[in-house]
Amino acid sequence: MHYLIIGGAGYIGSHMVRYLMEAGHQVTVLDNFATGHRWAIASANLVEGDLGDSALLDRTLAAQRFAAVLHFAAFSLVGESTQQPGRYFQNNVASTLVLLEAMRRHGIDQFVFSSTAAIFGEPRSSPIDEQHPSAPINPYGRSKWMVEQILEDYATAHGLRSVCLRYFNAAGNWPDGSLGELHQPETHLIPLAIDAALGQRPPLVLHGDNYPTADGTCIRDYIHVVDLCRAHHMALDHLQAGGSSARYNLGNGNGYSVRQVIDAVSQVCGQPVPFTVGPRRPGDPAMLVADASRIRSAWGWQPEYPRLESMVQHALAFRRGRQSN
Ligand code: UFG
Repeated sequence: MHYLIIGGAGYIGSHMVRYLMEAGHQVTVLDNFATGHRWAIASANLVEGDLGDSALLDRTLAAQRFAAVLHFAAFSLVGESTQQPGRYFQNNVASTLVLLEAMRRHGIDQFVFSSTAAIFGEPRSSPIDEQHPSAPINPYGRSKWMVEQILEDYATAHGLRSVCLRYFNAAGNWPDGSLGELHQPETHLIPLAIDAALGQRPPLVLHGDNYPTADGTCIRDYIHVVDLCRAHHMALDHLQAGGSSARYNLGNGNGYSVRQVIDAVSQVCGQPVPFTVGPRRPGDPAMLVADASRIRSAWGWQPEYPRLESMVQHALAFRRGRQSN
């Protein structure tokens, strides 16, 4: 199969490119390199440009027959989205609409969409299953929820079938460390903690230790990026087999507190993570843990790397590799 991966040069997108190519598929990446990296997609076909560029999409979709489109090209920082909502709605919603219209014009009816736990807002129950109400509390979460709703209408009106995968906390890297997470700026806990342990950054600031959790720090459900890729591959097979639109929550169902992550990073790195305790970060819910039983029973999806230590080991391999370059 030949797949078009929008945002294939970013963290999760680039892992998906590698995953599908290793599974024997052909891949074309469309990326504007707003946050992605050229080195991350070394051997894939590349179309450089923006997903909101209708003429470019027309040329790309006319030149090749793609079985499906996967869309990873969103802005994804909660804090930034509260300060620049227009930028988030423009890219994450308006440009996605341009893409969906182009797909419709070219008769492509299979779509896999990167959604997020942020569509649920402040959890009303835990773990969070697909029945949990969607009530996002920031522009980032709202932008993703809007697209999920748009996709529902496109399925009804145009037969465009989609799978929305709501990621909890994507973590880890390609296991041999040859591909990895590199954001600018980096805001995610595991890479920041590793870099602090390696002395590559100042001490980590732990954002709040007075949450209503056992050790006072926030609990998250970390899921290995390769396990996310496997779920996308299953989504593509499902759509290819004529399956109807679906939405799944995607996590391991295990919550780890920030302190537990710091302990795991210290243990894997063999040196302590220096940190200070700061104030809470606005918009952080105390606990986000997935109930992913629906995707497990529908497709038999299972995590290959459910242990936090594996995610940290793989992330460390990537960061050590960059250090030595
Ligand atoms: N944290 C710190 N210090 C840091 C960075 C993070 O204490 O320097 C804490 C955060 O406060 C949070 C936890 O570590 O409690 C995890 O934070 P991340 O930034 O790694 O991840 P988030 O849970 O904030 O974000 C993830 C996804 C988002 C998604 C969000 C849903 O990356 O895309 O979950 O709430 F929107």
